[in-house]
Amino acid sequence: MILPIEVYGSPTLRAANGEMDAPCPEARKLIDDMFATMYAAEGVGLAAPQVGRNVRLFVVDLTPWADDEPELAGFRRTFVNPEIYERSEEEGFYNEGCLSLPGLHEDVRRPVSIRMRYLDENFAPHDGEFAGRAARVIQHEYDHLEGVVFTDRLSPLRRTLLKGRLAGFPKGKYKAAYRTK
Ligand code: NI
Repeated sequence: MILPIEVYGSPTLRAANGEMDAPCPEARKLIDDMFATMYAAEGVGLAAPQVGRNVRLFVVDLTPWADDEPELAGFRRTFVNPEIYERSEEEGFYNEGCLSLPGLHEDVRRPVSIRMRYLDENFAPHDGEFAGRAARVIQHEYDHLEGVVFTDRLSPLRRTLLKGRLAGFPKGKYKAAYRTK
């Protein structure tokens, strides 16, 4: 089932997100719905708070980027209760967008690699290192679990310049090719 996506200004995007405790049918259904919703919106990542569910869960599929980076083919993953415990000192910029901020793209500075513990869709534990664009998307989605959106990470000047644009989202002043809320 395709779910409507919460847009900037929605309290769900700022609320606390609880840990998930078991691979129940509800969790499985939510994961399936999140993948369906992400594909319908042509996104590469989607976090549960973006579909109005305040739990620590996000999904990623980087296959659309495999043309540029062949190793990303089949990078389709579910991350439950993730914990980033190491971030590289080296940082880089990348032009990010977000399904909750339709049409907005900005260069965001982040660590270039991370180490993270997480559970997969079967709640099996993993410990992995991610770099490049995978690290980028994972950190963006992880931020959603902390109530953070990418514009929070821009310079104060850039945020000031975007003030009007951001204020427009809750008023419905945006265009999205997918269902929003
Ligand atoms: Ni996002």
